[in-house]
Amino acid sequence: MKLTSRSVSLIPLVATVSAAVLGASLIVTATANAATTLGAAAAQSGRYFGTAVAANKLGDSTYTGILNREFDMVTAENEMKMDATEPNQNQFSYGNADRIVNQARNQGKRVRGHALAWHSQQPGWMQNMSGTALRNAMLNHVTQVATYYRGKIYAWDVVNEAFADGSGGGRRDSNLQRTGNDWIEAAFRAARAADPGAKLCYNDYNTDDWSHAKTQAVYRMVQDFKSRGVPIDCVGLQSHFNSNSPVPSNYQTTLQNFANLGVDVQITELDIEGSGSTQAQNYQRVTQACLAVARCTGITVWGIRDTDSWRASGTPLLFDGSGAKKAAYNSVLDALNAGGPGPTTTTTTTTTSNGPGPGGCTASVSLNQWNGGFVATVKVTAGSSALRGWSVATTLSNGTVTGSWSANRSGTSGAITWSNVDYNANVPAGQSTEFGFQGNGSGAGLNPACTAS
Ligand code: G3I
Repeated sequence: MKLTSRSVSLIPLVATVSAAVLGASLIVTATANAATTLGAAAAQSGRYFGTAVAANKLGDSTYTGILNREFDMVTAENEMKMDATEPNQNQFSYGNADRIVNQARNQGKRVRGHALAWHSQQPGWMQNMSGTALRNAMLNHVTQVATYYRGKIYAWDVVNEAFADGSGGGRRDSNLQRTGNDWIEAAFRAARAADPGAKLCYNDYNTDDWSHAKTQAVYRMVQDFKSRGVPIDCVGLQSHFNSNSPVPSNYQTTLQNFANLGVDVQITELDIEGSGSTQAQNYQRVTQACLAVARCTGITVWGIRDTDSWRASGTPLLFDGSGAKKAAYNSVLDALNAGGPGPTTTTTTTTTSNGPGPGGCTASVSLNQWNGGFVATVKVTAGSSALRGWSVATTLSNGTVTGSWSANRSGTSGAITWSNVDYNANVPAGQSTEFGFQGNGSGAGLNPACTAS
């Protein structure tokens, strides 16, 4: 969350934790003020507002002026794709991607990485590969690129567009799919190992309508991944809309249902063809849908001006060709401001050092609350020595857990003990892992206490 002196009140709380506790508790609550840029308006509720950027436009001062003023998240439109970053096998090329990443980070913006593995935009050498050689080449690509950008990427689109359109609800046929159905989870595991701090997303289009077979198929995959501990943190809905593919009436339901699986949801490539008030209303609906879903963490539009769009003739973006704000821009800004703080985000930190690990561990909880529900994300950080296992005690005095991820749990209300699962037991000194849960009620007063083992 972006906190400014204008918009934030800090309310220190008295720590009510046991003698083993070395730290204190703090609740940070954001309140809303009208903001004048998309990024600042989205930040009022802890969300981001991003855009796709093309490296060859960074010299255009109108383009860069809008970019720097309005957006706080950046996606390379083409420059991080497989054909751009590995044009010859095992020869990596990051020049244009670096220009975008460095420009963004120098301006204090975050970056979404797009995309590590995809059936499209493969370099020529990869298009002709199959079987084990292709699987290994794909995994090497994921590992190399994610390692190169390790620590600089907010979220990776690890796998892009792997599901088929139409009523079948299955995987898309591709050379990668023919290496075996587990290619997607293999890519996610490689990405986690290479860049453990980044959120890992599955990204696709035509997954906006909850009733579509493709949406259901992606949902089942994410559900399966969460149940088996495959490291996935987010689902990207590209959300390219036009008259053939309008904003569905159940769009918010789709966002919420994915979020209920225990993943963040991101709108990753938004554009809506049209003009005037109709286009503005559609943009408003999409923005409001995101704001209504606690784990919809941000929106990215797929370009800045209409003339920058891959669908330029459909004028689908928020700025016209001269860089002027369109009605759609104003409707998004107003919706973000009217949305106010959205879900209240509170962060409570409690530190314990009750070993046996000499370095102890810290647990902090970030809580997204709305009327009648909450999502808690708990961060477990190793102290001065590595963790071989950990447990976290929480108190849920007002609410019941309805779902959880990345930890075992002892119950659903009252005193609950959470413990590591196999893949997140080992945490190097000073580093962190996360687990989470959602529930009914407020989730207030969890007071997490970490025990190292
Ligand atoms: O840069 C070359 C130029 O030198 C050359 O003269 C010209 C000739 O065709 O091609 C230019 O490259 C094009 C590139 O865009 C840059 O404009 C490619 O041909 C063209 O294929 C490429 O299209 C991109 C497309 O992905 C490729 O799949 C679009 O810009 C980009 O907006 C689009 O983005 C995708 C997302 O990655 C995934 N989701 C859908 C979305 C829209 O298709």
